[in-house]
Amino acid sequence: MIFYDEGIRTFYLESKDMTYAFCISVHGFLQHLYYGKRIAREDLSYSVYHIDRGHGSNIAGAPRNESLNVYGNECPTYGRSDYRQSMIAVCDEAGVRVGDWRYAGHRILKEKPELKGLPSVRGKETLVVKLREERMRAEVELFYTVFEELPVILRHMEVCNCGEGSFWLDRAFSFCVDLPDNKWEAVTLPGAHLRERFMERTALSHGTFTVESKRGVSSGQMNPFLAVIRENTGEEQGEVYGFNLVYSGDFALKAESEQNDELRIVGGINDYDFSWEVHPGEVFTTPEAVMVYSSQGIGGMSRTFHDLYRNYLVNPRFSKRPRPVVINNWEATYMDFTTEKLCAIIESVKGTGIDTFVLDDGWFGVRNHDRSGLGDWFVNMDKLPQGLQPIIDCAHANGMKFGLWFEPEMVNTDSDLYRRHPDWAIHVEGLVPCTGRDQLVLDLSRDEVCEYIIESVSKILRENAIDYVKWDMNRTLTDNYSAHLGRNAKELHHRYVLGFYRICEALVNGFPDVFFEGCASGGCRFDPGMLYYFPQIWTSDDSDAYMRTIIQYGTSLCYPLATHSCHVSVCPNHQSGRVTPFASRGDIAHLGATGYELDTTKCPKEELVQIKEQVTQYREMQELILSGDLYRLNNPLKENLFCEMLVSKDQKKAHITLMVPICVPNGRALRIYPRGLCPEAFYEIPELGLVKRGDTWMNLGILVQSPFGDFGTKTYRMVQVER
Ligand code: DGJ
Repeated sequence: MIFYDEGIRTFYLESKDMTYAFCISVHGFLQHLYYGKRIAREDLSYSVYHIDRGHGSNIAGAPRNESLNVYGNECPTYGRSDYRQSMIAVCDEAGVRVGDWRYAGHRILKEKPELKGLPSVRGKETLVVKLREERMRAEVELFYTVFEELPVILRHMEVCNCGEGSFWLDRAFSFCVDLPDNKWEAVTLPGAHLRERFMERTALSHGTFTVESKRGVSSGQMNPFLAVIRENTGEEQGEVYGFNLVYSGDFALKAESEQNDELRIVGGINDYDFSWEVHPGEVFTTPEAVMVYSSQGIGGMSRTFHDLYRNYLVNPRFSKRPRPVVINNWEATYMDFTTEKLCAIIESVKGTGIDTFVLDDGWFGVRNHDRSGLGDWFVNMDKLPQGLQPIIDCAHANGMKFGLWFEPEMVNTDSDLYRRHPDWAIHVEGLVPCTGRDQLVLDLSRDEVCEYIIESVSKILRENAIDYVKWDMNRTLTDNYSAHLGRNAKELHHRYVLGFYRICEALVNGFPDVFFEGCASGGCRFDPGMLYYFPQIWTSDDSDAYMRTIIQYGTSLCYPLATHSCHVSVCPNHQSGRVTPFASRGDIAHLGATGYELDTTKCPKEELVQIKEQVTQYREMQELILSGDLYRLNNPLKENLFCEMLVSKDQKKAHITLMVPICVPNGRALRIYPRGLCPEAFYEIPELGLVKRGDTWMNLGILVQSPFGDFGTKTYRMVQVER
């Protein structure tokens, strides 16, 4: 709940396990006081140091020991005695960039307002605090949303121009948090195409630590996530502050420690190549930041993110609904297919329980390789002479739904669209634009381009029985310029994201029954902004079961398992050349929204039987994937063991999956320690024929017969029984 103590001008933002407090200082600045474990509503102002540190500066007109550089601040700004990272940098027409942003009122709302043009988490009680800069005639509103049951605060900022001239935002971050000491380590999710989100832990020291994207998308190179943890924090113990941005474009998250040995964390749209003109009367809205506090380690943080996203972010029409189990033709055929071949794949999996066929890249325009066709969203009649209908009919006749791949944000120069509208691609007149996968990026800052995408995709969706869309995006942005923006070309990347969200909004709402899966060369745009529109995202183009243990482990730090799209593919694996058992591929793909992506017409009979068994098993455990609590028991980056456990909310059922990557004959006696069980209840593990109390399993562990051969997996079910 949100509480304001008028006497001491202090705000308390509280949930079951967390308190966040700040006050209005005598000078009218918003002074941060506390963020952490739930504490009583006391006067916390005693905790503010007033120090004259020397060789600095202080608040104008105030005594020497009153400097914004030593105070915690909810909205630090530039140039008025605070030298640390600011949340906002603004420049008016005269070139003035400094000002005093002082408290000008607040309100507490029962319902969280939506963020204009941006996806955001649904919420209720929200505090809005207004700051005003009199000289510039500008106002800032800081939004804080709290949840009774979750230690989460949602934040964003709105900047309003109340004056007569424009001003430019050179930085407009979404949040600032000041922690009172600097004994922290950072947890981040760096990576690359085919190895997205490899969890990393780094010590923080004095200076500024930044994670960011400058690529126009949130990126596979760095996820818009940062956690700061204590040295002794582990999976299930210790303090964690986790930050995630509901944004799919350039972002920055910064942690800075300065002379006070404290830690300031700020973040939002990356200001590296950003500037935004706010005209008189306009409001600029920043993306939303999600802040999670956990006193139960990194695992506690993840479970909070998962509950938040499942309950308040992902489209409620799909969030808790069993996921389609797909067969996708990409790795089976790439772009080389015929109607007959696709139908043969569909027919080969009849009766296995696979319920959706997804036709991937290559069905449109003149698309026989990746150098042509993007932009032309009509069926390639040379390749599919009777159009999509026979394939859709075949899927239906075999009891399946039909899904289709699109990559609407892109264009090939060899396409009708480009020949008609070469200026629609992002480019600078007189410069040959950089290509990526031989394609150019459409300029989504232009309305007519967005309209074209909405209409061309809608037409296909209107005219065909399509239940599922896979929305791909296979390169990052370059040549950042758009003639219509002129000198404000630094707005392009954010305008691109806004255009993209506008398209998503139109299509997702225009076709409410269609299930949209996100994708960007696999998992190169996996963020909460995407999850708002796309209930699941293809986690990585790397479908190798071993690599997937690492990728899915990292992805699970913030994103619930049901949002990870995971497929069983053929071996030797197309990305790594690795051979893993078919059973292992199934077990690892089951830790998400499962599916298949291989030429099932070539599968031996035993594998088709295995597919049927796997889909049945998946359907039995899917409730745990959709709503269970995740416990990561063993980290494959640290040891020769991957192990994850899911426990139902009522603690009656659990599921464990482990992989031993390298078989070590006569090796370590494996023991895994389950978590999250009810200590007093009895649990049966049918695979072992054993019944023990929850606390016995959790403390004495499960003895595991190490699988024979490399990359072997084991799964265990745990079922609560009466004793
Ligand atoms: C990249 C995706 O990640 C793949 O799954 C596939 O859809 C290809 N693009 C198609 O071009």
